[in-house]
Amino acid sequence: MKTRITELFGIEHPIIQGGMHYVGFAELAAAVSNAGGLGIITGLTQKTPADLANEIARCKDMTDKPFGVNLTFLPTVSSPDYPGYIKAIVEGGVRIVETAGRNPQPYLPHLKDAGIAVIHKCTSVRHSLKAQSIGCDAVSVDGFECGGHPGEDDIPNMILLPRAAEELDIPFVASGGMADARSLVAALALGADGMNMGTRFIATQEAPVHENVKKAIVAATELDTRLVMRPLRNTERVLTNAAVEKLLEKERELGDKLDFKDIMEEVVGVYPRIMKEGDMDAGAWSCGMVAGLIHDIPTVAELVGRIVSDAEELISKRLGGLLA
Ligand SMILES: Cc1cc2nc3c(=O)[nH]c(=O)nc-3n(C[C@H](O)[C@H](O)[C@H](O)COP(=O)(O)O)c2cc1C
Repeated sequence: MKTRITELFGIEHPIIQGGMHYVGFAELAAAVSNAGGLGIITGLTQKTPADLANEIARCKDMTDKPFGVNLTFLPTVSSPDYPGYIKAIVEGGVRIVETAGRNPQPYLPHLKDAGIAVIHKCTSVRHSLKAQSIGCDAVSVDGFECGGHPGEDDIPNMILLPRAAEELDIPFVASGGMADARSLVAALALGADGMNMGTRFIATQEAPVHENVKKAIVAATELDTRLVMRPLRNTERVLTNAAVEKLLEKERELGDKLDFKDIMEEVVGVYPRIMKEGDMDAGAWSCGMVAGLIHDIPTVAELVGRIVSDAEELISKRLGGLLA
């Protein structure tokens, strides 16, 4: 399948694995790229630029295909060394960067001067247009369904994607709620040039996370995510658990008086405990509503392979058949 996204990134299938904290290590990124999609290493999961350089080198040992690095500009407790991370990306020969969170404009010249293609992930048409105007090559349009940070506008992809298609000139992928061939075909029909998946890629054999995380995703339904940190305008969609319910209770109790420090126990530094140790009640971790569509833990190659072949069948047989 050829789209503007496969052409831009030099990949076989229009399927991207979005950056994911403590999930997007070299093993997963390489597996996705080897399967013909675009794998992405999560930059900030690496504690220092030197660690990121090492992770990029490890990924290069595992794949000859293009892969990217995610740089997330979110409010964090201490500001990361972004110039250092960018240096590691450039010197590591990475050709694609996924930016997310805040406007990447301050860092864009460094990336563009190095010939890097930038796909910015954002949750609204206005932010997508901003990304286009500052020179991003593509955007990843993240609907309200998505795992992670859906923004504050709450527009689901059924509306957001065709709106993005109406306004944007640069290519874009659909992100949030994407799981299978039906997602891909729908995304293409709504005007996108491919899809980005987060939660679905966690429940794969190669995702380097504890089995408990994969099992929790398979066990979850579309009713099991919660929105946390909404009062702080830093909304995150997470899988419910004991810590999340405690956090929500604090949000209800404190109302307008809620401060980030009130919920630090449930959100700061919890990822290693969840993703590595499988302590599923340690805190809030991002998960999409799409968990309701995830019923197995295939290899990445099986997952990507069946998405592509089922999509071809869906387009040519089911949809084509409707015209006969
Ligand atoms: C566990 C987890 C961690 C994530 N961490 C990040 C991150 O560090 N940076 C980022 O830009 N997006 C992050 N995301 C968002 C994903 O890249 C992707 O946009 C999102 O998962 C898409 O929605 P979906 O889960 O419905 O596929 C994360 C998502 C999950 C599920």
